[in-house]
Amino acid sequence: MPPREVAVTPLCRIGSSPDFPCAIVRAILVAENQGTTGAARLRMTARRVAVLTSGGDAPGMNAAVRAVVRAGIAHGMEMFGVQHGYTGLITGDFRRLGARDVGGIVQRGGTVLGTTRCVELKTDAGQHKAMQQLGDGGISALVVIGGDGSQSGAHALSQRGLAVVGVASTIDNDLHGTDVSIGATTAADVALEAIDRLRVTAASHQRAFLVEVMGRGCGYLALMAGIAGGAEAIVIPEVDVDPEDVARELRAAHDRGKSHAIVVVAEGARYNAEALAQYFKANERQLGYDLRVSRLGHIQRGGNPGVFDRMLATRLGAAAVDHLLADRHGVLLGVVGGQVVGTPLAEVANRTRRVDVQWYALAKVLAA
Ligand code: ADP
Ligand code: F6P
Repeated sequence: MPPREVAVTPLCRIGSSPDFPCAIVRAILVAENQGTTGAARLRMTARRVAVLTSGGDAPGMNAAVRAVVRAGIAHGMEMFGVQHGYTGLITGDFRRLGARDVGGIVQRGGTVLGTTRCVELKTDAGQHKAMQQLGDGGISALVVIGGDGSQSGAHALSQRGLAVVGVASTIDNDLHGTDVSIGATTAADVALEAIDRLRVTAASHQRAFLVEVMGRGCGYLALMAGIAGGAEAIVIPEVDVDPEDVARELRAAHDRGKSHAIVVVAEGARYNAEALAQYFKANERQLGYDLRVSRLGHIQRGGNPGVFDRMLATRLGAAAVDHLLADRHGVLLGVVGGQVVGTPLAEVANRTRRVDVQWYALAKVLAA
């Protein structure tokens, strides 16, 4: 029987395609139709593709792994998971992944592949070993799911000739090339729930709470959770404030008749929660409130991904496969203005994005 010619619809565009169900059927036919001719088919069957997660784990990483693996399989690729991020890349810790191996993980936080902070990958020798392991495994392409550090590593490997596609994933939301990264929304929701609970006890005791949230050098999580949680004050790295300024804001809130107050502090601010608390301990009368401190820490990373992060991860994971099929690599995939966009890794590596401080001005108005 002559091979059927089947048009391929990129999986990342399926949701917006006018013939949505037909597009899925066509993608499945492509996978089943091993006899199909054409340069694209030859390229895709030749590909052995690995996927890894790296840096701080983020809710939705598993959904992205699942999307990469299943979209790759649908296009006739052989898929491999790298265990423990770049550490596993350097030691050759690869595992063949089938569709069943990524079952039951879409709803789980963390990463089933494991993740590390791997200093060795920053070195010439480490990158060389990683390239050798990939070569030995006959793997010609890599999908890197992670934050800015991980994408710097992806860029380094891409410069060594590997076909690499990055997928934006960090709770910090500090990556260039995406409006929002996988995990940031769920982490903000976890912080928000904690803030809501702290407000309950703050109100009962007429106290002020300093709530410290993660985010490294970026104030995104603090600002989003702070605004959504109705914080009386927000302290972020992007806006330089002194403890005296925060004390003044709390005093003013007290004098406006507020019985309690919440201050959301980003861990990367010049004065984090501990530094602010030290100052306030010595000057408690200035505040008008009794003060307590709560550091949320890693709790923010451990949530189950919500629908937004699962969908973002699914879109970006499928788009990573589309990009490899089209030989478009050396890019980070993110979402800009609602669309999946690839930004050259060279523009993303070794840079971090700061939060838009217009939100900060709005937060101040709303804290009235
Ligand atoms: P994230 O990706 O969440 O920002 P890290 O900053 O810890 O997390 O980076 C994750 C890993 O990426 C590092 O442990 C290291 O292996 C790799 N990496 C970070 N920066 C670089 C770099 N400049 N060059 C090569 N690899 C890097
Ligand atoms: O990058 C994600 C993040 O959770 C940051 O917000 C935080 O500063 C850092 O990782 C914590 O790293 P670790 O898990 O290594 O303590």
